[in-house]
Amino acid sequence: MRRPTHTSDPVLPGHVSPMRSVPIEIPRPDYAERGVPIQTTPDDLRKDQATVERMRQAGSAARRVLRRVASHIAPDITTEELDQICHEACIEEGGYPSPLNYNGYPKSLCTSINEIICHGIPDSRALKDGDIINCDVTIFLDGVHGDHSETFTVGDVDNQSRELIRVTRECLYLGIAAVRPGGMVRDIGMAIQNHAESAGFGVVREFIGHGVGEIFHHLPNIPHYYEPSAQFEFEPGMTFTIEPMITIGSPSANLWDDGWTAATKDLGRTAQFEHTILVEDNGVEILTVEENESQPFIEGANSSEWPQTLLVGPASTND
Ligand code: MF3
Ligand code: CO
Ligand code: CO
Repeated sequence: MRRPTHTSDPVLPGHVSPMRSVPIEIPRPDYAERGVPIQTTPDDLRKDQATVERMRQAGSAARRVLRRVASHIAPDITTEELDQICHEACIEEGGYPSPLNYNGYPKSLCTSINEIICHGIPDSRALKDGDIINCDVTIFLDGVHGDHSETFTVGDVDNQSRELIRVTRECLYLGIAAVRPGGMVRDIGMAIQNHAESAGFGVVREFIGHGVGEIFHHLPNIPHYYEPSAQFEFEPGMTFTIEPMITIGSPSANLWDDGWTAATKDLGRTAQFEHTILVEDNGVEILTVEENESQPFIEGANSSEWPQTLLVGPASTND
């Protein structure tokens, strides 16, 4: 394991503003009112063609929302403002921001800065030059969830953090490349752990990928480390996330008193990338991309290139 070399101050909790509301005409998931999910894992984990098509729409909407959030990332913007952008963009898409009141989560976006592994709550903290931030968007659209995140740089970021982000992104795509019908869940963790540890980085074990569709989180669990007992077999029609969290130092996590924010114990930096994917007869489709983006994991792929990372800051004027 490497020693983290960055020198930024630890992230501190800020002020969290009241929950935002969603217009009544937007259909919402079962937990939206009381905060408690009711439906659990479906009996059949294979989605039919109509559900898959709805998931393509939710997936590309999540991608557009994240693109919009990314275009506002710059020093001095608060995570609260990024949350508002996400919230409004989800509603413009006709969807509900899935995190909002999910098990009581108070915001529409997760913003995880520097040593925060995941589930950082947007608050009054402003981004600083040199920060890294993961923004995790999930939208509930037409009855299904699309779950997608990337880690972004704020201004001038040190080389070790940039390498962490590069390797984490590679871990996501190598994890996707390890999926095939008839393959097993453990193939994903094997690919990710090998790549992360060869680079001297750690793999978080406390948080994992998950089945997704009409339910935000369902089986199977997708560990991002090699778990020999994870012998669940993939079949065409299954949809789930891969969302590796990779650390410069030790991957051990420490939960903040807010019950959500997970930080590395050693306060070393950590990054995460996430896609929602679909197992097909002839490969794997990434659902959280737009139609014009590459699909490198389908037989006869339109490109061998991975989808591009989203641009940070106002240079990206796609909104
Ligand atoms: N999007 C996160 C995931 O990848 C889940 C966020 S749940 C929340 O699974 F409640 F923290 F928002
Ligand atoms: Co997820
Ligand atoms: Co997510």
